[in-house]
This record gives sequence, structure tokens and C-alpha cells, in this order.
Amino acid sequence: MTISWTIEMHDSIPSTQDIAKGHARLGRMEGTVVQAREQTAGKGRHGRQWVSKPGNLFLSFILNPPCAAMQIGQISVLIGLALAFTVRQCVAEDARVRIKWPNDVMINDEKCAGILLESELSGPNIRWVIVGIGVNIAAAPPGLGTSLSLHPGRGGKSVLALEFVRRTLLGHIGALYEEWLRSGFANIRQEWLRQSHLRGEPVRIKIGPQIEEGIFYGIDDMGNLQIQDKNLRLRVVTAGEIYGQGAT
Ligand code: BTN
Repeated sequence: MTISWTIEMHDSIPSTQDIAKGHARLGRMEGTVVQAREQTAGKGRHGRQWVSKPGNLFLSFILNPPCAAMQIGQISVLIGLALAFTVRQCVAEDARVRIKWPNDVMINDEKCAGILLESELSGPNIRWVIVGIGVNIAAAPPGLGTSLSLHPGRGGKSVLALEFVRRTLLGHIGALYEEWLRSGFANIRQEWLRQSHLRGEPVRIKIGPQIEEGIFYGIDDMGNLQIQDKNLRLRVVTAGEIYGQGAT
């Protein structure tokens, strides 16, 4: 079953996330996409702001994954991988595209795209997930990462058109979602690990006010982060921010 996408386009709105959430509450279908040319109150993870000027991609869509709430980490990893495939297709061959857990996409160690997941549960299952994605195409906010336009590749400007990036992204998400429904998470996890940032390196994890340290070992079969501590024990982290050692 492929997702059938319908796009609702807006000029300037506070956040595509809130409109998509409203649609989900009214029972709108999986595959409903809300896109905006500009957001005036774009939202990032951990309550941060997502600066949303025209020229970049801002969209949120509804998914109704038929799975348990604890599998939401798999969705997060799947979307991050689809976003990495998309970025890879838009930039120069020698640009190093990596996914930073859970799903930031980096080019040469700088963030160029982010994902925000919000969900509503129905008992132990997921009723809906709103997936919000922001991609810096034309420009990154000053001091905050990079943009695709700084790493032009195959096809030059044409591949950096908003429509191209959106179409490519939704295509990859549809294909990976179908694979996940059909065959489960194992191959997606393997591919994510191949493209992951900081794997095998010493990292710090910020979990609320707390900082944990260890070696980034991998992700488990629910998409949670696995860290090896100094006693060589594996610890599982379900939510937090990961940094390379030395980074703040
Ligand atoms: C992050 O902090 O990395 C996640 C950023 C998610 C931004 C996108 S832009 C489209 C959607 N609408 C929002 O308000 N946020 C998400």
C-alpha cells in the first residue's frame, strides 16, 4: 500500500504542524500534507523555534501507522533515512551526508534539515503521527547549520527547487513506509546505521538537565539510541540530544 499524498499549500502561517494536527483530530486521511512558503512560529524539537523564511521547505503530514506506541522510534528513524536519501540526491557527490540520531540530517557535520514528530495514542497503539519536516534549501538561519544551496551538485539549481525536494522526499518516505509495513524494521535500521553520524565515537547525550557519556554503539530494534558506558555496559536512551565529545 503506497501513501497517496494530497498537498495543501499555504503562503504564510504560524506552523504547518498545528494545521496538520487539527486535520488529524478531524479524522483527515493519512498522506494529507500541509506545506507553507513561510512560517511565523515554526516549531523545532525540545520546544525550540524553527526559523522559517521563504525559500526553504516546511511541511507536516499525517501518518496512521498500524503499530504499537513503543514503535514510534522506528517511524522517526525511517523518516530520517528518507530525508538523508533526499539530501544525498540534491548535493554534490563529495558532500558527506549523515543522520544524527534520532533524525537530523547533516552535511559535512552541519545540520541542514530537521524532523519533529507529534502523536496521539489510542490505548497501546498510535492513532496518528504528525511528521513535520524543515529543510534548509535556499539558506540556513545565520549561525544555525547549512543549506543545500551551499553544496550544489548534480543538475545545479534545478534539483534545489522546492517542488523537486518535496517530490523526492515524499517519494522516499512512501517507499520506506511501504517497506516497513511489508518487511518490518530490520533493513531500515541497517541502512540508517550505515549513514549515521558519530557511530563508534565518544558522545555526550543531553537528557533534560542530565548529561550522559559513552560510545555511540548503535540503535536498537525500536529505534532507541544505544550507548556503551565506561564499564562496557549498553545503555538505551529513548529521547535526548547527542553531541560529539568536545561539542557543547
Ligand atoms: C528540529 O528541531 O530539528 C525539528 C524541526 C522541524 C521543523 C518543521 S518545519 C515544518 C513543521 N512545522 C513546524 O512548525 N515545525 C516542523
